[in-house]
Amino acid sequence: MTTLIQPAKRERSDALVFFGATGDLAYKKIFPALHAMAKRGKLDFPVVGVARSGHGLTELVERARASCTEYGGLDPSAFAQLVRQMRYVDGDYNDPVTFQHLKKELGDCKRPTHYLAIPPSMFGPVIEQLGASGAAENARVVVEKPFGRDLQSARELDRIIHTVFPEHSVFRIDHYLGKEAVQNILYFRFANAFLEPIMNRQYVENVQITMAEKFGVTGRGKFYEETGVIRDVIQNHLLQVVSYLAMEAPSSMIPEAIRDEQAKVLRTVRPLSPDHMVRGQFRGYRDEPGVAKDSYMGTYAALRLYVDSWRWEGVPFYVRAGKCLATTTTEVMVELKNPPQVVFNEAAPSMGNYLRFRLSPQVHIALGARAKRPGEGMTGRPVELSIVDEGKPVPGEGVRLGDYERLLGDAMAGDATLFARTDIVEAAWAIVDPILHGPSALYEYEPGTWGPKEADELTRAVGGWNTPA
Ligand code: BG6
Repeated sequence: MTTLIQPAKRERSDALVFFGATGDLAYKKIFPALHAMAKRGKLDFPVVGVARSGHGLTELVERARASCTEYGGLDPSAFAQLVRQMRYVDGDYNDPVTFQHLKKELGDCKRPTHYLAIPPSMFGPVIEQLGASGAAENARVVVEKPFGRDLQSARELDRIIHTVFPEHSVFRIDHYLGKEAVQNILYFRFANAFLEPIMNRQYVENVQITMAEKFGVTGRGKFYEETGVIRDVIQNHLLQVVSYLAMEAPSSMIPEAIRDEQAKVLRTVRPLSPDHMVRGQFRGYRDEPGVAKDSYMGTYAALRLYVDSWRWEGVPFYVRAGKCLATTTTEVMVELKNPPQVVFNEAAPSMGNYLRFRLSPQVHIALGARAKRPGEGMTGRPVELSIVDEGKPVPGEGVRLGDYERLLGDAMAGDATLFARTDIVEAAWAIVDPILHGPSALYEYEPGTWGPKEADELTRAVGGWNTPA
């Protein structure tokens, strides 16, 4: 008789500890995510905030209230549930006493998830203290991006983490993967028959990804001085998007199938050279609190990438991201080659057919096509077929989860599908490493524009940048 092999049981964590409880990320994302979980009746575990503020639980609750009010609106009964579950530990991350207090607050909890919402330089000390105090036993750890500063430091960080946590307990969070819109790239590509035959070098002229933000560094000058735009959003969020756009079909939905394909495609991306990059800094960045007066950090970067695979050989992938740009939006544009012009005798349109994924602020998928103009002539005009335009809840459909809500829930449940595996993170660092360490020019640009005009040179061969409307 054959024996049926059961998959390893993943037990749900029974507490969430988050370091950096008084920080910016906790304020903007974590409290609202926990509040949303409470609203859905899913916040049935203790939540222990850890920080060094000199304050106590009362102040943390007030901060949580302000956060939930500002980001999404306060639901009194959900907030009351969050408060019932909240605990607080105040102390230095290098001090073993902080971790003894943490153990005490955890009480009978046996499988906590520790979320490190702290600056990258503090990851190592906290992990070591978690190990030494015994708080890491049967625990999971969620580590915020950027994971390291470059390839070498990411490997070193992995080494430290693995002295305390086995790889299956490590969740490298990249909130872009928790976005419905980003998951829809994967779904839309592989759940439809019409798209796959054309997603390759035969049909695609170029791919452009724009992540524009109208706001600046909003009080995060110190953090930004450690990261800059490449470490902040390109090495992680935007290369994850590239991997979903360019990967082969995963063999199934098991976590490793998707992550295997992401890793494979990122390994085929050619390491960047300074000739394929333009960096910028918005005027006024150097006056931000926490920023050096002579800072050489980029707040804007535009890149030309090549995926050296059978499918994508020769197709440029243009990626640009920046702060203080003309608008806030993230959009992917897959521009298709023009059909032969011999039949209708029209001038070739600058952009005929395309596939557009708007990732934020709304989710929007559209196909660009041409249709005949009314009248006697056989001439056309551009039209856009809108495939999905989400935003509001649709009766009868599933609940739309916020990115952090989704990912924290997945980490608590031990599901790593939407988290970056170590080889994916390393492959992404290997792509940007040469431009992080090599010398490169930096151009100043005016806030409210589309960045330095020098970036236009990168896309000149394909008719320029697609500027999201
Ligand atoms: C964060 C970056 O990871 O992503 C920020 O640190 C950026 O600089 C943010 O603004 C953008 O994410 P979202 O989900 O708000 O578009």
